[in-house]
Amino acid sequence: TREIFIAPSILAADFARLGEEIAAIDKAGADWIHCDVMDGHFVPNISYGADVIKAIRPLTKKVFDVHLMIAPADPYLEAFAKAGADVITVHAEAGVHLDRSLQAVRALGKQAGVSLCPATPEHAIEYVLDRIDLVLVMTVNPGFGGQSFLESQLAKIGRIRTMIGNRPIRLEVDGGITRDNAAAVAAAGADTLVAGSAVFRGNSSADYAGNIAAIRIA
Ligand code: DX5
Ligand code: ZN
Repeated sequence: TREIFIAPSILAADFARLGEEIAAIDKAGADWIHCDVMDGHFVPNISYGADVIKAIRPLTKKVFDVHLMIAPADPYLEAFAKAGADVITVHAEAGVHLDRSLQAVRALGKQAGVSLCPATPEHAIEYVLDRIDLVLVMTVNPGFGGQSFLESQLAKIGRIRTMIGNRPIRLEVDGGITRDNAAAVAAAGADTLVAGSAVFRGNSSADYAGNIAAIRIA
């Protein structure tokens, strides 16, 4: 069985105390740190950029999993690589030259991920499977934390698990993940679970270790 990684999304953190929040989720057992970058163009919200990631990078040794919800992405890949991203995920819908974007990420020495919005079929990744280290299935429409999980994506997760075969590609899910649906997404084939609200406000509790553990145990 695959080891499940939990990747708290710091979009749900208290930005006024971001450094302390990073230290807290590190100590609480986060496997990866998920960073949501939004440009107000590809998605209808603006979050933070490479300078913020660079500022928090020294605070933990954990993998920085950078989810770029920006279009175009290519002009900014180097900045995120230099800021300390380990995984850089671009959206299949963010540009017409996905293959080129993924090559660019690997040329920067980083792991390359591709993300699919809920309405994008799994076929979008068919011809880039040998260029990627991660597939990110959005289980909400990207742009905001705290939305409800879209059940329609469970079938897509299963189909992508089959497409991956025995390639060393992680299958990540992002959006509306809770202790209540974690088992279903893992059973469908996901091995990396992003969680924002469920970690930082899980069952309205600030017990980050308890919230991460509850997802992992589920
Ligand atoms: C949505 C982001 C997610 C989001 C997850 O656009 O990509 O990472 O922050 O937050 P929750 O877990 O609250 O849905
Ligand atoms: Zn994300």
